[in-house]
This record gives sequence, structure tokens and C-alpha cells, in this order.
Amino acid sequence: MELSLLGCSPGVSRPFTMIVNFIAVLLLIQPSLPLGSGSMTRHFKWEVGYVFRSPDCVENLVMAINGQFPGPTIRAKAGETLHVELTNKLYTEGVVIHWHGIRQFGTPWADGTASISQCAINPGETFVYRFKVDKAGTYFYHGHYGMQRAAGLYGSLIVDVAEGEKEPFDYDGEFSLLLSDWWHKSVHEQEVGLSSVPFRWIGEPQSLLINGRGQYNCSLASGSAVASSNATTTGRGGPCRFLGHEECAPQILGVLPNRTYRLRLASAASLSSLNFAVTSHRLVVVEADGNYVQPFAVDDLDIYSGESYSVLLTTDQDPAANYFISAGVRGRQPNTTQALAILNYKPNPPFRPPPSPPPVTPRWDDYSRSRRFSLKVHALAGRSPKPPRKSDRQIILLNTQNTVHGLVKWSINNISLALPTTPYLASIKYQLKHAFDRAPPPERFPENYNITRPPPNPNSTVGSQVYRLRLNSTVDVVLQNANAMKGNVSEIHSWHLHGHDFWVLGYGEGRFTAAKDEGHFNLEDPPLKNTVVVYPYGWTAVRFAADNPGAWAFHCHVEPHLHMGMGVVFAEGVHRVRGIPREAIACGLTAGMKKAAAEDDAGN
Ligand code: C2O
Ligand code: CU
Repeated sequence: MELSLLGCSPGVSRPFTMIVNFIAVLLLIQPSLPLGSGSMTRHFKWEVGYVFRSPDCVENLVMAINGQFPGPTIRAKAGETLHVELTNKLYTEGVVIHWHGIRQFGTPWADGTASISQCAINPGETFVYRFKVDKAGTYFYHGHYGMQRAAGLYGSLIVDVAEGEKEPFDYDGEFSLLLSDWWHKSVHEQEVGLSSVPFRWIGEPQSLLINGRGQYNCSLASGSAVASSNATTTGRGGPCRFLGHEECAPQILGVLPNRTYRLRLASAASLSSLNFAVTSHRLVVVEADGNYVQPFAVDDLDIYSGESYSVLLTTDQDPAANYFISAGVRGRQPNTTQALAILNYKPNPPFRPPPSPPPVTPRWDDYSRSRRFSLKVHALAGRSPKPPRKSDRQIILLNTQNTVHGLVKWSINNISLALPTTPYLASIKYQLKHAFDRAPPPERFPENYNITRPPPNPNSTVGSQVYRLRLNSTVDVVLQNANAMKGNVSEIHSWHLHGHDFWVLGYGEGRFTAAKDEGHFNLEDPPLKNTVVVYPYGWTAVRFAADNPGAWAFHCHVEPHLHMGMGVVFAEGVHRVRGIPREAIACGLTAGMKKAAAEDDAGN
């Protein structure tokens, strides 16, 4: 299936754009068709349910929206309001949807995090997500209850610049590529395994997917098979299929020669760090996590779970051929074939396999290469705010793996996050005493802790504490990586902050020392992001303004890690929050106080 049929814009040449603009002008004359006025509301009616699908040519249960997997792409303009009426059609599970990268200013209850911003939506019930998309960029949405993201509950969310505004770069057409990984084992089995004694790890994914399409265990035989014009090539696990009628056939990006295309990449991966590349084509990185960056060219790029990038690709190669687009595993010893898509130079037949093999994914453990890429990302001058010179508070978060009551957990400063039954937003707003652990969580970890030595940390516990931040204060967080349970193993994590973007001030190796490392913080052009990687045995420092009243998750975006407790909760200015809808808090200790809540809002 051609990408254009999926609702994404195909290659549009420059003269064509002019025609489209002309039509837009004509349409604007009719008042019933407001094209992109900032106050417009876009309505969606969604049903979440399981369907049978074969995303990697193997049939499985997939969590879909309106029968679609991945879910429908949302496309809006900056300043518009989205109104998503979500009905839970799962038979026995609650559900919520998080709008990853959207800051939810003034609507913290619409952030879609179960136990933090709202109660899970029960089977049969409907919840309305209504919020503003205030900033152009590449985003996505996904389930945020249990490990439902890994069950396939995700889709793209693209915000265009407001009418009359311009992106700081030009392109002729664009494609959205949502990357993910896929298991044949159900999410329920994965969750139970991770919470069992003895521990059962989920293992490596069976497949990697691009827009929900991958091929389980198919490998391209090198040389001859790839070069043949057959629609099928044969590998150890069976033939790779390029015919196009299977659900798992690769995504085709139809392009014209000598044009520039914007590829919007986002990773909804559960576990895998990915490397993205297109055979023979350079990629110019222009956007990261919904913020413009100083353009830089690469042959490939690493993308961690929760990140998004826009890259510009110029179709300047031999137009007689098609080319492979690939995503492969990095950061873990890979045991999964690359995901492939095809860059189809028109008028070549779309499903003709490319003559040259797919790009080779760089070695999985070449972290210096990954670090070099991270350090290339800088804010675009004049298009993003600079950080305050100083912060009001510094929180250092030690990331460790350990056992608590026989269970394998991830802990932050020795606390493994266990979400409460009452959403934090409600229990903080209504000052409930017994909804979560009231003691303030630790701001740092013991001086004598050796980050290179494997745990156990005997003091590790399970808890639900909250970091209370002063509204409008500037907060620094240093994520400190350490050894996992096994000797000489430190894992990659990608940390995501809800409700805010942060400036990435720096990365370092070994233990963070304020005196030595703060002097090297980048305060000139640090990129604004919402997700950032922490390398093995390294640290990453971020700064943000606590300027968004609400309760916000800050967690590792690796789905099994979050399930094992790898997260914290920040809250600021919750007393200022007005208008929490009743349906958002109809559970736990706030289930019976709907009326009081409404009165409180009115009376304040
Ligand atoms: Cu995309 Cu809390 O996650
Ligand atoms: Cu992690």
C-alpha cells in the first residue's frame, strides 16, 4: 500500500503546492470551512478494541483504534484544540491515552496517565480528551496504563505550524514513520512474567515495525536474491514479502527525483533503541521532540523510545533504482531483524526490491558513536528559548536495578514506583492524606554508593512519593546511571517528562560531580526535548521550568522498565488547577467525592 493512501501527504512538487495554496485561499472565503484558524476544534470519535492482525506476517491480537493499527494519524495546526471522544471497547481492561510531547497547559487531567492524571476508563465507558496542541512538531500518542503501548496502542500526532507561520526549512513533501517493536507473547504474559518470582524477562522483540509493518524472521539473502526482480527474497526464516497485499508488506514511500522530503520519525518502541537509515541517502536533522534544531547531516541516526525527529532527505541518487529504509536495534545485543520500508523513486514499480542491500546497523554497543550523535543536537538559534542561567533546585536521580521482596525492580534513589489507586492530580488537589506516601522522596543518593558495582541495595523499597516543585521555579535533574544486577552491565534508559520540555544541558561518563561537571553545562544552545537518553554508567543533566500546574510523570520510556518501577512523579501548583472533569477522578478515594470536588472548584 502506498503511504499516500494512508492519509499522509505524498510527494508534492513545488508548482503543485502553489495550486494547493490557491485552493486554500478559495476555501477560506467560505465561513463554514475555517481552514486552520487558531481557535478551531478538531473532533474525533475513537473506540479502542482488540483485533486480529498480522503486523509481522504472524497473526496476533493487536490493540487498535476504530479497527486501525497503528491508530489513526492526527493532523492539526498549532493553536488548535483536539477533542477526542474515547470509548473503551476492550472487554476486561481499563484504558487511557497519553499525548506524548503535548504539554497540556491548563488541562493536566487530559495527559492520559492512569493513576497520575486520571482514572483508567472502564470497559464500556467514554472519556473526552480535550486539549490544545500549542506547538508545531512531530508527536505521537499511546496507551499509558500497564503495558498497553506494547500491545499496539499508538499512533502519530502531527502538528503543523499555524496558518501564516513558516517552518525554518523547505521541503516538497513529507512522510510520517512511526517505529516500534513487537512481541508474539501477549502483553499480559509479559506483565505477569516481569512481576513473577522467579523473574521472567520478556526477551528481545520478534520484529521491528515501521508504521505497524515488519516481517518476522525473514532475512534478505545477500546479493543475488536482493538483486533479483522477484517480488520475494528468501532468508533463513522464510521469504521476505514485498508484494504489497499482506498487512506486513513494507511501507512504500513514493518520491520524485531531485526533491526534498521531510521524514517525521517517532519511536513508540517498548524496549529497543533503534538506528534509522536510508541506503545511499544523507539525512539532515531539523527537529527533535517538537523543537527545531540546528540542521546537521548524518548517514543514520539513533532514536530512543519516546523520541521524535524530523529529517530532510533529498532524492539525489540514481532514479532508476528503489532504496531500502531500515531501522535496526542498538543498545542491546540484537536478536531481531531490521524493519524495512522502501523509498520508491517514481515511476519505478513500488514493490520492486532495491538493488542494493539495506544499510548495516552500526554495532549495538558502540556507545561512543551514539554519544557523538547526541552531542550534535543543538537548539536552532532564534527559534527556541534559552535556559535560565541558574536553577533553584537540583535533584539527582540514581537509576538502579535491584530486588525488592524477591521481585526484580528498577529504583530511583532506592524507591521503585508503585502507582496508587487514586490519581495524584486529584489526591493532591483535594489534599487527601492517605492516597500516596507523603514523605518527600530523596533528592540524592549516598555519597559512598559505587555506581560501577552491582547491587543488591538492601535499602530499596517500593513507594509512591511525589517530588513537590515550587510553581515557576527552575529545576535541574541529573539522571545517574549505574550497574544493573549483573556485573559489568549498565543499561540504556530513555527518560521522558510529561507536561514540559527540558533543556539537555549535558551528558557525562561515570559519576556526576557538581563541582567538576556543572561548569561544562551547555547554557548557550542546549536542545529542548521531552525525552533524553542516559548512557551506560553515564549521567545526563536536564533543566526545566516548573511552570505547568499539575501532576506529571517522569519515567524511563522503556515499557518493561516503567512496569518494574522506573519512574518518579513531579507536582507543581496543583492548588491552581481548576475544572478537573468528574469522570477523570471517579476511582479510588475520590470516587465518592465528585460533588465536593465540583463545589471546591466553584468556591475557589
Ligand atoms: Cu510516551 Cu509517560 O510516556
Ligand atoms: Cu529504562
